[in-house]
Amino acid sequence: MLIDKGKGMWVDDPDGNTFLDFTSGIAVCNTGHCHPEVVEAAKDQLDRLIHTCGADFYHAPMIEVAEELAAIAPGKSKKRIFLGNSGAEAVEAGFKLARWHSGLQNALAFSGAFHGRTMGALTLTASKAVQKRKFVTNRHTKKHNKKIRDLMLRKCFENGLLLLSGGDSTIRFCPPLITTSEQIEVGLEIFSDVLKTVAG
Ligand SMILES: Cc1ncc(COP(=O)(O)O)c(C=O)c1O
Repeated sequence: MLIDKGKGMWVDDPDGNTFLDFTSGIAVCNTGHCHPEVVEAAKDQLDRLIHTCGADFYHAPMIEVAEELAAIAPGKSKKRIFLGNSGAEAVEAGFKLARWHSGLQNALAFSGAFHGRTMGALTLTASKAVQKRKFVTNRHTKKHNKKIRDLMLRKCFENGLLLLSGGDSTIRFCPPLITTSEQIEVGLEIFSDVLKTVAG
């Protein structure tokens, strides 16, 4: 699907069709699409300074966000903040820190966990999404039914609800944190109507 613009939990395609977005850029746009405060802060920063390498120079927003994160991070010990550009980069940093701290070489990861697509994170990934809702061909054998899952996603899409897939049997709900109970109700109503038509 081609998305043209978004506001809060709603997105429009270029033909003007509107969808309720329960994906939030895979749980990344937690303030919803184009939150006015986020847009204002981004525009202000673009006018002021676009980039300088954080390893060479600091600037006020970096320090402020680091202080805010340190203030809410659990534990009493002194905090150090690492700002990365992705989940995979955070996993890589954690992986390196654990090796440095322990002096050990190997790491254990859970089967079924997803940690990212960069080289180190990928070595920890045995990718099947963790949030599983199983659509199965047979309730006893639990054999996955990707066809039904894909049909569910398509029908939800046709009824104006965007959801994410994962693995071959998973549907993921990732609404942003600004969701209202009305929007959740609308989304769940579309989902349960579709579930009734597809799964009977
Ligand atoms: C649990 C988990 N770890 C790591 C990642 C990797 O994050 P990114 O795609 O930002 O590199 C993801 C992304 O979906 C994730 O869900």
